[in-house]
Amino acid sequence: MAAASSTSNSDALRREAVDAALAALSLDDKARLLAGQDLWSLPALPAIGLRSLVMSDGPIGVRGVRWTAADPSVALPSPTALAAAWDPELARRAGRLLAQEARRKGVHVLLAPTVNLHRSPLGGRHFEAYSEDPYLTGEIGTGYVRGVQDGGVGTTVKHFVANDAETDRFTVNNVVAPRPLRELYLAPFERIVRNAHPWGIMAAYNQVNGSTMTEHRYLQNAVLRGEWGFDGFIVSDWLAARSTAGAITGGLDAAMPGPRTVYGEALATAVHAGEVDEKIVDLAVRNILLLAARVGALDSAPPAVAPAELPAPLDGAELAREIARRSFVLARNEAGALPLAPGGSVALIGALARDARVLGGGSALVFPDHVVSPLDGLTAALPEGALTYALGADPSSELSIAEAGFDLGAVCRDALGAVLATVPLPTGQIQWIGADLPDGVTHETLHSVEITGTFTPRESGEHTFGTRGFGGFTLTVAGRTLHDGTQDRAPGTDPLGAFFSEPVERGRIALIAGEPVEVSLTHHPVPVPGHAFKGVSCCLVHLGPQRHPDELIAEAVGAARAADTAIVVVGTTEHVESEGFDRTDLKLPGHQDALVHAVAAANPRTVVVVNSGSPVELPWRNEVAAVLLSWFPGQEAGHALADVLLGAHEPGGRLPTTWPVSLADAPVTATTPVNGELPYSEGVFIGYRAWEKAGTAPAYAFGHGLGYTTWEYDAVSAAPEAVTVRVRNTGPRPGSDTVQIYLAPGAAADDAPERPARWLAGFARVTAAPGESVEVTIPVEPRAYETWEESENGWRAVPGTYEVQAARSLTDVRTTTTVEVPADQSK
Ligand code: BGC
Repeated sequence: MAAASSTSNSDALRREAVDAALAALSLDDKARLLAGQDLWSLPALPAIGLRSLVMSDGPIGVRGVRWTAADPSVALPSPTALAAAWDPELARRAGRLLAQEARRKGVHVLLAPTVNLHRSPLGGRHFEAYSEDPYLTGEIGTGYVRGVQDGGVGTTVKHFVANDAETDRFTVNNVVAPRPLRELYLAPFERIVRNAHPWGIMAAYNQVNGSTMTEHRYLQNAVLRGEWGFDGFIVSDWLAARSTAGAITGGLDAAMPGPRTVYGEALATAVHAGEVDEKIVDLAVRNILLLAARVGALDSAPPAVAPAELPAPLDGAELAREIARRSFVLARNEAGALPLAPGGSVALIGALARDARVLGGGSALVFPDHVVSPLDGLTAALPEGALTYALGADPSSELSIAEAGFDLGAVCRDALGAVLATVPLPTGQIQWIGADLPDGVTHETLHSVEITGTFTPRESGEHTFGTRGFGGFTLTVAGRTLHDGTQDRAPGTDPLGAFFSEPVERGRIALIAGEPVEVSLTHHPVPVPGHAFKGVSCCLVHLGPQRHPDELIAEAVGAARAADTAIVVVGTTEHVESEGFDRTDLKLPGHQDALVHAVAAANPRTVVVVNSGSPVELPWRNEVAAVLLSWFPGQEAGHALADVLLGAHEPGGRLPTTWPVSLADAPVTATTPVNGELPYSEGVFIGYRAWEKAGTAPAYAFGHGLGYTTWEYDAVSAAPEAVTVRVRNTGPRPGSDTVQIYLAPGAAADDAPERPARWLAGFARVTAAPGESVEVTIPVEPRAYETWEESENGWRAVPGTYEVQAARSLTDVRTTTTVEVPADQSK
């Protein structure tokens, strides 16, 4: 009680301080406060004791205001992985760790979590969202937001709303009927707002039903603030604010990034011209000041979390490792292939086993100070001599950012060629945005930047080099100029296009393994037409010698034959899963499928580890002994993998999204608008709701995931508001399970809206020793029985009989019972 009253006391004090601060501001100051001053922050107003509010991406780490590996961050597993753990408390710990990272980097607001839905498996940022199910998404998001805010750092739940794909994301009009909008796309936001009280929301780039989201009065003002009682700030997605009066009256509080935005001077002018009422500006300023008060950036107000109340510090590497192993989904395990029997030899195969892909691309990118690859992790965990490694197949037959073997720095020069600064570069990528430039350099003085250093090849043969970005480029390798020219931006390109643009090959050169050569790429940056936005973005990209795929596979088959177990790591590349574009298929790139077929034929104990953030087709899945889905597993990937493969821990993941056999089977796939519109014509049927309607069997169903022990379930009791299940660990080792509750409605009245065959209504994680029984009561909320009826304007419980299924996945229902929802519960 004492804590509650002191919280509401300090809440009242914060609101008083906000009022007083607001009253002291001129219109110009107010308008200025709502506009980014640079890429990541809002301006300080020292006269009212307001410090600059700093924001930073993103879901799995905190990058800070500098886009550089020189300022490393803990990298947790991908959001799909966090959701696969089905544990809001684990998400809360992830959030606390991220708050700790944010504080370390001077960040007040984390640009996360992403709670858009897995509508189409082709969505480019699928890896960055949690699930195809709105309830699971909302629960994981609630845990995450609570955790970040426990640490006194704000969140911006994003991207509000229906930003479920990337194609034409700045302009697409997503046409979504009221019922799917409420029951699916808004539902996670609503749950998080009601249960975790986030201090921020990010308005998406796209339109919904004809209004761009940064100006969406109905969704931002009426629904989010009005119906749900959201009292935080709304920030635009980066460059999403398009009109001064439209955005401010539509509920948008902060326009990012700066320095030139639709707010600031333009907003003050609109007030003077009578186009915008100053009272509306005051509402937005109040929201920003309240945010500042909560995060401790307004001197006159107590922060929401006093320094003495901050959670105990967490160990980032340990938490990354725990989340990874608890997220791994053991999709198949024939004849107890896993955990591996001690003492056997292992052939580890695959390019991603050596160069692990631990996180997705785009704004979610952070730079960890180390990455434990599967090869590192298994080498450390297995006895000496037990492990051999073969490349097998390289999915990156495309140019990627220069990294392994490169020792690089950047030299910045002015127009006369004088050196302004020299800085080390951990990779061949430069991404200097806004004020984030090396000391002594400004966008005005910077004329060229040279990425220069040495490259020591790992393999002999023909190496390919190239560039990424727009502007002038001169590329020299081992004294030979491979390219000297200009790369123009295609008209109408996404303003952030330089970050996501395709690499371009510039030349090839034969090099010898172990013999270093000099490399130099000089870049002359060019401005982004029509945008005040300043940035230098360029990359030196490289591709090693391409050996014949058959030769690589034959080598891997030899290694697999000679070992007791073959472990093949396959997965996607940054060209497949990232921001700014959608996928075109779900195939594993390169010759990875052929590799697995061949290894499986050579060794019956073949275990495949799938390193992808989202679903891929696994055409060999029934030929191999085990399939472990490891997502993008974060910086401790290899240690977590060794923990699980060798049985120190069991894999804890359950699928948060359906994995199709092939893209052709997936019921909802479209991500490309036609004439600017993307109709969500499938209504409420996405994910497993759609799979069950179509009657098609996927490769692995929603909720699926095996552990290392076995379970028995007994229904104990069920009422509409709670289900009690008794589960018993019938296997030989301690374990954990995720008890899933699905509701299947009985026959509907003729005039009832069509509902899915069933849906997730609750879940809980249990742990038990061998032979132990555990009873778990899982609450079911009234909303689980409701549908949205626009005509009656609201939620309505649908009366009738519901089958309650206690299940280990959609395809492993263990016990059922029924509940009655009486007619008088409906409105
Ligand atoms: C992304 C956001 C991100 C922002 C800032 C945008 O392009 O859509 O998710 O937070 O950039 O990096």
